[in-house]
Amino acid sequence: MNKLDTSLITSALTDAGFDLTRRVKEADVVLLNTCSVREHAEQRVLSHLGHLKHIKKSRPDMIVGVIGCMAQRLGDKLLEHEAVNIVCGPTQIPQIADLLKQALEKNEKRLAVTEKIRTSSENQNQALERFESAYGIEDRQIPSQAFVRVMRGCNNFCAYCIVPYVRGPEICRPPELIIEQIKKLADQGIKQVTLLGQTVNSYKYKKDGRTWSLADLLNAASDIDGIEWLRFVTSYPSEEFFDDILQVMADSPKVCNHLHMPAQSGSDKILHAMNRHYTAAWYLKLLDRARATVPGIAIAGDFIVGFPSESEDDFQATVDLLNKARYRNCFIFKYSPRPGTTADKRLEDTVPAEVKQKRIAGLLAAQEKISDQLSRDFLDKEVKILVEGLSKKSHRNIVGSGNNPQLVGRTETDYIVVFNGPPSLAGRFAKVKIIKTSPLTLFGELT
Ligand code: 5AD
Ligand code: SF4
Repeated sequence: MNKLDTSLITSALTDAGFDLTRRVKEADVVLLNTCSVREHAEQRVLSHLGHLKHIKKSRPDMIVGVIGCMAQRLGDKLLEHEAVNIVCGPTQIPQIADLLKQALEKNEKRLAVTEKIRTSSENQNQALERFESAYGIEDRQIPSQAFVRVMRGCNNFCAYCIVPYVRGPEICRPPELIIEQIKKLADQGIKQVTLLGQTVNSYKYKKDGRTWSLADLLNAASDIDGIEWLRFVTSYPSEEFFDDILQVMADSPKVCNHLHMPAQSGSDKILHAMNRHYTAAWYLKLLDRARATVPGIAIAGDFIVGFPSESEDDFQATVDLLNKARYRNCFIFKYSPRPGTTADKRLEDTVPAEVKQKRIAGLLAAQEKISDQLSRDFLDKEVKILVEGLSKKSHRNIVGSGNNPQLVGRTETDYIVVFNGPPSLAGRFAKVKIIKTSPLTLFGELT
């Protein structure tokens, strides 16, 4: 979501006459797009702001804007920071160019956050929709790939989660605008589109007497020439539309066989306390159904360890679920109390930091074993990947690869593949034979 917002804002500001520089020291304006989901993410922003305060001593005219969820959460408190000129929440981004112009002209501080974030305003929705349709053309971060938001906000109120308080209520975008946008992207050479929503599988839109689901969106998007891969994140474990979505995945060669469906915990007691509406056994049955409909589907998950009152037995139940689920990969986090959420208001953060640390390490190790086994299945096999560009270690060479740098791409099932090849492959499909594996990365040779 934040990457998409960054792209939209970059396009909007380019349109308004700004140029992008990645060097802070050259910039007249520095924007920090922020995340509030864990305290650590916010602390990093505060440390960046400390650094910017220092730079501003020699560059007093530099404008610093904080955008995104932390801006919405902290509002005028953030504006009090010496380095900050603009605070703009995620529902106010259509104003960003005007805010910057005002700040540059008058050097005054500006606050743009939505006061009653849970009460959706028609004007605000329309402004966001216009902004999204006008600028959501290209991701620009990875060639040939783009994100398209299908819904904003969230109504789930998982007890630990800040998202409903900073991104507002769930609002699904009209299907015709989504499809129109994907067509425009295809015309611009985009090959992979990822549909985004906090609970993307619950997408629902009533139109002309019928209800559009995510399955309908995927079907319609599959008909668009030029689009070759379609993905969607993130799914909430729910029965609604589940079979339809999986059936489209099974039937359409364009819909990637990949499902990100966080469990968060394997203990029914903790799931209940988290306000997640399922049990561990039911969740595992859902995964069985996914695997029966889409053989070879890769499933990814998220977990939170150390949620209030999580006992050793609860944690063991999570390890047990993770082992049974056989995820291709998992994102695992330590519980971080977020002010204003029900968990923070009603439950004490009882699990000591060192226990959280021990549990996260234990769960990561369990997943690493599974990821390693699953990766090994690829040895000596050829995979099709969409090439993203230079890898982080692009100077590294595999023997016999000539002068080609190291590139990185992903398979349909979201495996990261590293290989040596010409940089001109970025944004194109390639075939690679896997010669070495690690839990999270496959290494190969271009075939
Ligand atoms: N503490 C730790 N992890 C969290 N997540 C969301 N809120 C919190 C929190 N308060 C995790 C969940 C979610 C992912 C995006 O971040 O696992 O799926
Ligand atoms: Fe947060 Fe739960 Fe909504 Fe996901 S579904 S964004 S975890 S409240």
